[in-house]
Amino acid sequence: MRLTIIGAGNLGSAIAKGIVSKSIFAEICVTRRNIESVTYLKDKGIKVLSDNKEAVRNSDVILLAVKPHQVKAIAEEIANEVGNALIISVITGVSLSELNSYFGSAKRIIRAMPNTAIAQSESLTCIAVNENVTAEDKQLTNTIFSSLGELVFIEEKLMDAATVLGACGIAYVMRFMRAMMQGGIQIGFDSKTSLHIVTQVLKGAAVMLQNEHTHPESEIDKVTTPQGCTIAGLNEMEHQGFSSALIKGINTSFQAIDGIKK
Ligand SMILES: NC(=O)c1ccc[n+]([C@@H]2O[C@H](COP(=O)([O-])OP(=O)(O)OC[C@H]3O[C@@H](n4cnc5c(N)ncnc54)[C@H](OP(=O)(O)O)[C@@H]3O)[C@@H](O)[C@H]2O)c1
Repeated sequence: MRLTIIGAGNLGSAIAKGIVSKSIFAEICVTRRNIESVTYLKDKGIKVLSDNKEAVRNSDVILLAVKPHQVKAIAEEIANEVGNALIISVITGVSLSELNSYFGSAKRIIRAMPNTAIAQSESLTCIAVNENVTAEDKQLTNTIFSSLGELVFIEEKLMDAATVLGACGIAYVMRFMRAMMQGGIQIGFDSKTSLHIVTQVLKGAAVMLQNEHTHPESEIDKVTTPQGCTIAGLNEMEHQGFSSALIKGINTSFQAIDGIKK
């Protein structure tokens, strides 16, 4: 099978790098207009082109990873070459019905919302499909994105929420980690050791919830001794608006998606 990724930017390149070692596609091709910055992908066995029409010809799967305002022009450019390919879009805020209006109502189209951890094969990818998508397409989508992390099939109406929690979420967690790391430096660790500790603590907490299927609050109960230092710190964080700031930030990102669509 042949995969073409249109838009080898941050996400498109990360997907190409992640998928190339998985032996799902015999050929992977990426495109962008200025190909100089991605010529290194050739060393990984990925074809790099600037001609979208040539790239999509005879592709089984076409993955669109350009900015929302670029998709209409690209669809007009490649529509005649798409053939029977499955189209997967990772573009934020462009609906399945919009994509069908650009490519044709009979086209099989999938929206996927991964995050940048896809380069490490640790993405969480939310997937919504149109009514033309077959069971085989869903199986192929499952094979692609489960090789790059975990995936969840969702209703399309939740795609904006998936964008915020699953994709923007990487940035929220990074900012949380930076703050925890800075706290670690203030109480005595050098920057490198602080980052090492914070990274493994975060990984340990995540794996604990994944493996035990417990609620975060019940894990908190296990480490909060009455009158102890953990509850003292946690309560101070809450007095300073920790949970509230996070929830308000998530909500603000969600409201801001409408601006991206325009
Ligand atoms: N980054 C994330 O975490 C993330 C997560 C989920 C979804 N998304 C979505 O994924 C999409 C891509 O995001 P990104 O962060 O990867 O953006 P990006 O780095 O700007 O990548 C977009 C790429 O599209 C290329 N491009 C533009 N016009 C093109 C054309 N006519 N033909 C071929 N390539 C073209 C650009 O390269 P040239 O200028 O050289 O052509 C650029 O490399 C966006 O819609 C974004 O909302 C991103």
